Amino acid sequence: MSNYHIKHLEEYFQVYRKSVRNPESFWEEVAEEHFLWRKKWDKVLDWDFSKPEIKWFQGAKLNITENCIDRHLHVRGDKTAILFEPNDPKEEAEHITYRQLHERVSKFANVLKEKGIKKGDRVIIYLPMIPELAISVLACARIGAIHSVVFAGFSSTALATRVNDCEAKMVITSDGSYRGSKSIDLKGIVDDALEQCKTVDKVLVAKRINSDISMKEGRDEWLQPLLDAAYGDCVPEVMDAEDPLFILYTSGSTGRPKGMLHTTGGYMVYTAYTFKNVFQYKEEDVYWCTADIGWITGHSYIVYGPLANGATTVMFEGVPSYPDYGRFWEIVEKHKVNQFYTAPTAIRALAKENIDFVTKYNLDSLKVLGTVGEPINEEAWHWYNDHIGMKQSPIVDTWWQTETGGILISPIPFSTPTKPTYATLPLPGIQPVLMDENGNEIKGNPADGRLCIKFPWPSIARTIWGNHQRYKDTYFSAFENKYFTGDGALRDEVGYYRITGRVDDVIIVSGHNLGTAPIEDAVNEHPAVAESAIVGFPHDIKGNALYGYVILKETGEVRNRENLRKEINQQISDKIGPIAKLDKIQFTPGLPKTRSGKIMRRILRKIASNDTGNLGDTSTLLNPEVVEQIMKEVIK
Ligand code: WTA
Repeated sequence: MSNYHIKHLEEYFQVYRKSVRNPESFWEEVAEEHFLWRKKWDKVLDWDFSKPEIKWFQGAKLNITENCIDRHLHVRGDKTAILFEPNDPKEEAEHITYRQLHERVSKFANVLKEKGIKKGDRVIIYLPMIPELAISVLACARIGAIHSVVFAGFSSTALATRVNDCEAKMVITSDGSYRGSKSIDLKGIVDDALEQCKTVDKVLVAKRINSDISMKEGRDEWLQPLLDAAYGDCVPEVMDAEDPLFILYTSGSTGRPKGMLHTTGGYMVYTAYTFKNVFQYKEEDVYWCTADIGWITGHSYIVYGPLANGATTVMFEGVPSYPDYGRFWEIVEKHKVNQFYTAPTAIRALAKENIDFVTKYNLDSLKVLGTVGEPINEEAWHWYNDHIGMKQSPIVDTWWQTETGGILISPIPFSTPTKPTYATLPLPGIQPVLMDENGNEIKGNPADGRLCIKFPWPSIARTIWGNHQRYKDTYFSAFENKYFTGDGALRDEVGYYRITGRVDDVIIVSGHNLGTAPIEDAVNEHPAVAESAIVGFPHDIKGNALYGYVILKETGEVRNRENLRKEINQQISDKIGPIAKLDKIQFTPGLPKTRSGKIMRRILRKIASNDTGNLGDTSTLLNPEVVEQIMKEVIK
């Protein structure tokens, strides 16, 4: 029996039991047998959720890029590591072998060093899905710099907040990006952002769209000439297992984004382990995850997990609708993709289109289908199963978070029987529990509660950059000695988990986590706005969409409502990004508040969702009359 590669259900149960009975020896075996360490650990695990402090493989030395690149060179140097599929299908795909990746990462790492980046420095990467994105991530890891990738759909203000929060020394960007038929001026966004930042002294610019951009003397440099001149080998920095690898920002219930910090050894072991098992990757397979590397899914399951397993990982620059809605399936056919991993929102959007976009292509290569990012509804699950998997390819509904680093609950394909909308069983090493509102664990099945994890796993985030107290408050204070996920879940008769959604003020729109507080802040900054409240409501394609209740200032001035709506959304686009725009905006004279002044979002959510049959207890409301009025004017 191999702990590392589970091949049938009985084996899963055995491995799982072992991983819970003795987690240290379980992870030690996995780490020992499958990775390259410069020095072994002194201790496998040290943890205390009350502090909270978590350390895996303390004392071990390694470099993650040696594991993701160098050690493959003699066995699969000529195998494609990254298969880049450009936005425009007429542009040729690029196959980057492990050997080429080694050279390109080394050159990039040498450029970083030459530009003064050292171990522990923060580098912000703001790039589209082009090879330079993966390469710059790996180049940072090569020299021990901490990368922080910011999704290239975020606005200049959002970018500036992140640059300032981690006090980055450098930004890596491009002259622009392609997205379907559009192109975006990324460099202009960086220039705007850096007006508000003091720590960045270098900006490296990759060429992608050949646009005529302005370069700031002394700060900005084109990347390519630097790479051309750089040496093609770079000795990897020897890192401690607990040295930081990256910071990735995620939305929270309050204003500032949280810079989740992941460290090196445990993250590597866990992402590699889960990649192997959840996708059942085999040596000749081509694996494709459609996420952007700007999100955790891209970090763990486009870059680190696949490369640590010597896989061929596809990087797609474009969007599912360009040049038409058949693009995903065209790529699957063209590259004979074996494992395909995407988000429910993409599935729902594609399921609405003519089925000819699917049937035109040969999808026989597919073996495993994955979903991530939000609950998958039954209809989408069946469409995926029937039309893409042809009822042959198991669907792995993978539940996890930026904070967890890797997949925690998921079927193991060909082993775990799947069940629509259920993420099913915890992976080895993961000990989920459901808690009731009084803080008690709900034992027995079925059950419905708040999802917590009671034992650490190797890739759990170690802190929030610069704010350990917030880390403790957010994840370890709601339930004693447990990591609280912020999600609600059901557990069925056989112990399968179904994640039902967030129980906090985070709303998942098209698979993107959005905190309501930062959006409300952006809306409130509009000069005409006095106050606002934002809630989610169900949406066919996006899963959830945003509904804003806005109180205007009483200035006596009558403004055109449609123009105001546009301005408010523009304000959100500028402060956060277009992904956070409101679908519906209702102007209202008041918001339902409790006597202590708290907005009753529960009621607003129900009204926005057109679910007003039972509004629940409204007796604590200060102003019940406003509820009637809001209901009358609700936007359907
Ligand atoms: C949600 C993405 C249901 C959940 C990897 C979680 C899911 C949040 C699933 C994290 C799933 C993710 N089923 N809900 N399979 N996967 N979620 O940080 O609410 O972008 O807390 O990480 O997405 O989103 P994040």
